[in-house]
Amino acid sequence: MTTLATTLGRVTLKNPLIAGSAEHLIEVDGIRRALKSGVGAVVAKSVNESEAARDQLQRAEYLLLDEHWNPVNWGPDAPASAFVACRSGLTPQPFDQWLEQTAQMDREARAYESYAVASVILADLDATVRMAKEIEQAGVRILELNIGTPYASQARGAVSTELDPNNVLAIVAKVRDAIALPIWVKITGQSERVPDLAAAAFAAGGDAVVMAGRSLGLIPDIETLEPMLGTTLGVGGFWNLPLTCQWLALSRAKVGPGKPLIATNGAQTGLDIARMMLAGASAVEMSSPVMIRGAQTLADALAQFQTYLERKNLDPADLIGVAADRRRNFPAMPLKTGNWKNYVAT
Ligand SMILES: Cc1cc2nc3c(=O)[nH]c(=O)nc-3n(C[C@H](O)[C@H](O)[C@H](O)COP(=O)(O)O)c2cc1C
Repeated sequence: MTTLATTLGRVTLKNPLIAGSAEHLIEVDGIRRALKSGVGAVVAKSVNESEAARDQLQRAEYLLLDEHWNPVNWGPDAPASAFVACRSGLTPQPFDQWLEQTAQMDREARAYESYAVASVILADLDATVRMAKEIEQAGVRILELNIGTPYASQARGAVSTELDPNNVLAIVAKVRDAIALPIWVKITGQSERVPDLAAAAFAAGGDAVVMAGRSLGLIPDIETLEPMLGTTLGVGGFWNLPLTCQWLALSRAKVGPGKPLIATNGAQTGLDIARMMLAGASAVEMSSPVMIRGAQTLADALAQFQTYLERKNLDPADLIGVAADRRRNFPAMPLKTGNWKNYVAT
């Protein structure tokens, strides 16, 4: 049987699929369902000290849209093209309660040879450092530090969308200084400098970089003439996979193959895990497809990934960065004179 283990610096996961943070991982039942599905790790719904961020969750609203921008029903029958457009907030639990729950989940995760990862979204840096220390003291084994949410411009200081590599360096260095835990730094995709942000996170002592957070988007409603859900929304979905893969490939080229990258944004299946690993990821997070369709999505993706590896007679490590490293420049492509004519509809 193919071994599915993958190594992210100091951490080895039993397989590269990580249940990424969102609302379905607020409560213990959701986290337990994700652990039971067999994933290598589960990232619990994020916390921070900001009351405004908690308040945002109670104002949150979600749409599942198809390729015609029409709403479709939430659930396992949603089409593969369906994607989430939403405004979200952070966990409603007070920090102490969230911490107790996350530590308990990470203890339970050991029985599954998995991890429940604590996730903090930066608002105030001193508060983040205090929370990081408490997370470590509580015995949680991994911290994901999200400095790349889509919402900073909309949510007035409740969360951050860090766009400047110098800030990334300063933020991660300060948290690194405070704790010894592995830190996975989650960065934005709303920048042309994603590889620089990743390099800064590693230079400051981050153990892995998660890329790349969802984007802001505006979807006009042609009936009401209003923006859907009244505002700018966080958007991502299957269509983001090529962008995530491009950022992985460029970041791998920048930081080198020894620095573990974790993919987020656009994976829905086991074959997508393979695609993102071929682009340079050592592990892959899956969030909204699980919130839409349930934890079975994770189990199905793992089974499909394993079948793929067996068919190709490959280990997960054989995939990492292969397609990224085989990229060539356009001028290196073979001459195909007049080929374009085959692609023009009449
Ligand atoms: C409704 C919703 C809530 C989310 N909440 C969080 C969160 O609390 N913390 C976090 O780091 N990311 C959060 N995310 C981002 C996801 O973890 C993930 O990075 C993003 O959805 C792209 O991956 P996907 O295509 O697998 O959904 C959220 C995403 C959605 C759709």
